[in-house]
Amino acid sequence: MSDRRPAGWPARATIVEVGLRDGLQAERVSLPTETKLDLARRLIGAGIRHLELTSFVSPRAVPQLADAEELVTRLGRPKGVEITALVPNAKGAERAVRAGVDGMVVFLSASESHNRKNLNRDIERSLADVAEVTRLGEAAGIPVHAALSVAFGCPFEGEVPLDRVVGIAEELAMLGIRRLSLGDTTGMATPPLVRERVEALRATLPGLEIALHFHNTRGIGLCNVMAGLDCGVDRFESSIGGLGGCPFAAGATGNVCTEDLVYLLEECGVQTGIDLEALIEVARAVERAVGRPLPGQVMKAGPRLALHPLDAVATARG
Ligand code: COA
Ligand code: ZN
Repeated sequence: MSDRRPAGWPARATIVEVGLRDGLQAERVSLPTETKLDLARRLIGAGIRHLELTSFVSPRAVPQLADAEELVTRLGRPKGVEITALVPNAKGAERAVRAGVDGMVVFLSASESHNRKNLNRDIERSLADVAEVTRLGEAAGIPVHAALSVAFGCPFEGEVPLDRVVGIAEELAMLGIRRLSLGDTTGMATPPLVRERVEALRATLPGLEIALHFHNTRGIGLCNVMAGLDCGVDRFESSIGGLGGCPFAAGATGNVCTEDLVYLLEECGVQTGIDLEALIEVARAVERAVGRPLPGQVMKAGPRLALHPLDAVATARG
């Protein structure tokens, strides 16, 4: 089918796989480093080129990611792959630089309540942490990007005003941030909110690259992706199998699922460079590793043209 790509949508989209970070931080059990390494390599094998691999946060806060150094060091720098990690503060940045990541993602929240829950400090103090992290990144020659949690609503405070999101983005831009991911931590985004926030940021900060990070908590994660595509956004964060969730946000559930996202994009004529069938195999391996059924749907149904033998089901006879 030619010309299937809707007007205004990008020809290519970048998918950032965050399952090993956002996903595993929310699992009850910690996976062995060896298993994480195997999954990271399989993801890369399926065509993933942007991997948010782990977080350099307090191992007491998130024990599931306590092996960050070992994981980054042992994976190394696979050719053509961008390996990033989340860092909350200078201590995290120092650890990430030493371990050898390609990029750091410093994070804070758009609501005071979630910032306090997630980072144990107010937003002002977090902005001071961002300043320190950007200085460390600059000194080490490692790009620092930012992620803003609860950017579409907060489970503790409700609506998060647009002005707050734009105001924090302006502060981040002043600190040298060039790429901002808007995080929908507990799936409160809706297509009109996505459009409103992306358009407002574009108008205020035209040089800022925007990425979108949705959780499928209310079942409209991919609708929100489509709203982002309508606005020309071409960078999306997702988790293999639909893993994911923030342990410090009430009611958090999985991210938009990577293979479902690849399926949507490719069927709409947006190139991802990712092999869907190979990715489905990885999702099944992740499901085995975490030992629970994952919410991803394409991993269960298969690609659109996956055929089933005629004798797979009974014939309806009257
Ligand atoms: N990595 C490892 N240890 C860290 C650290 C980091 N990035 N930052 C602080 N610590 C250690 C300190 O060294 C100190 O250790 P000590 O008691 O042995 O001296 C201890 O943690 C307390 O330091 P403090 O700065 O007071 O931290 P805090 O208790 O206020 O916690 C954070 C702040 C940011 C470390 C913590 O809230 C955190 O890790 N949050 C991340 C949560 C997360 O990952 N959420 C999911 C992602 S959206
Ligand atoms: Zn998330």
